[in-house]
Amino acid sequence: MKLTVVGGGSTYTPELVDGFARLRDTLPVEELVLVDPAADRLELVGGLARRIFARQGHGGRIVTTSDLDAAVDGADAVLLQLRVGGQAARQQDETWPLECGCVGQETTGAGGLAKALRTVPVVLDIAERVQRTNPDAWIIDFTNPVGIVTRALLEAGHRAVGLCNVAIGLQRKFAARLGVDPAGLHLDHVGLNHLTWETAVRRGGPGGEDVLPALLREHGDAIAADLRLPRAVLDRLGVVPSYYLRYYYAHDEVVRELRTKPSRAAEVAGMERRLLALYADPALDEKPALLAERGGAYYSEAAVDLAAALLRGAGSPYQVVNARNGSTLPFLPEDAVIEVQAAVGPKGASPLPVPRVDPLFAGLMANVTAYEDLALDAALRGGRERVFRALLAHPLIGQYEYAEKLTDRLVAHNREHLTWA
Ligand code: G6P
Ligand code: MN
Repeated sequence: MKLTVVGGGSTYTPELVDGFARLRDTLPVEELVLVDPAADRLELVGGLARRIFARQGHGGRIVTTSDLDAAVDGADAVLLQLRVGGQAARQQDETWPLECGCVGQETTGAGGLAKALRTVPVVLDIAERVQRTNPDAWIIDFTNPVGIVTRALLEAGHRAVGLCNVAIGLQRKFAARLGVDPAGLHLDHVGLNHLTWETAVRRGGPGGEDVLPALLREHGDAIAADLRLPRAVLDRLGVVPSYYLRYYYAHDEVVRELRTKPSRAAEVAGMERRLLALYADPALDEKPALLAERGGAYYSEAAVDLAAALLRGAGSPYQVVNARNGSTLPFLPEDAVIEVQAAVGPKGASPLPVPRVDPLFAGLMANVTAYEDLALDAALRGGRERVFRALLAHPLIGQYEYAEKLTDRLVAHNREHLTWA
């Protein structure tokens, strides 16, 4: 089995490689190709990746290259984890929206739109190259904004599934709080990527006993503290939102906070410098503890599980993924991409049925889906007016004066990435 990681020079890659090494029975990778235009990073990351495989007795071959076509040739699956413009572009996305009183975040709000506009054309180009050489290869997309990017891939006819670690992260945390094996805990997870709610926590799989009420009763304070939302809000929702919902439920508070502290991009850039210095040490042959301070906890396990299901019919039969809505959420268009539990296997991912969704959540999902629709239109066809329409439709923006100012800033800060600007 050959797997290719686009953006393989990411400092996150050792997490993925560690997962491939530990879980090799579920996913026997013979050749792992790390492809990245940043040759210096790739060399450091590739070196550590080889040492991780060697230490764990994994016989697979690790290849590093900057040649994308060679990298994807013959791959059974291609994982996308690239970041167009790097942390410098993220730093911009997190900063200029604040000037207009709007949240500055890499996937939510105006910053997320900027990221979508930079990313969609690049990802579609990569996917076309994959399809040319291996029409049957699966594309697993981690590249943010995952909902919009996955929709772009699906609409262009690619075999793609979008993946995020929010659900697996919550599943592991809840299991630890309850003192049970995470494999036996099934979350009723509903929404769009980075806009999700856990509406039930079931023991033993879909349809199992719902222990969410008990979890909230016994651990509500700790869960609320993790999300940085008041406990009373959780109790009133009766479900557990992902931490991305704080950008909505506490928008103004978040904006005030973000204005007074260094951006996450700056924090991550510092961490990346330290990580790369660690990776350069030939004695290091495991992922360093510092990597756990990044947001990607458990993403390797989610990736292994998904690739195993798609390529071998192995791994968990139900997984939270980003896939086409179809008729799952009747209040959204069929071609919207939603993030829910799905049955996954060699034929792809089909969402499990979802019980009626409370309008309290459905309304926001419908609103953000409309934004994503317009965001994809702007990413595919370009133009200032399309950017304005997407921003005006976003529930965190909505006013024409803000949308106008944000459009100007988005275009000014992203000119080098936008062919039409
Ligand atoms: C979570 C999200 C990812 C996001 C990451 C950011 O894992 O699900 O989509 O990329 O956080 O983490 P970072 O350490 O880069 O802030
Ligand atoms: Mn994510």
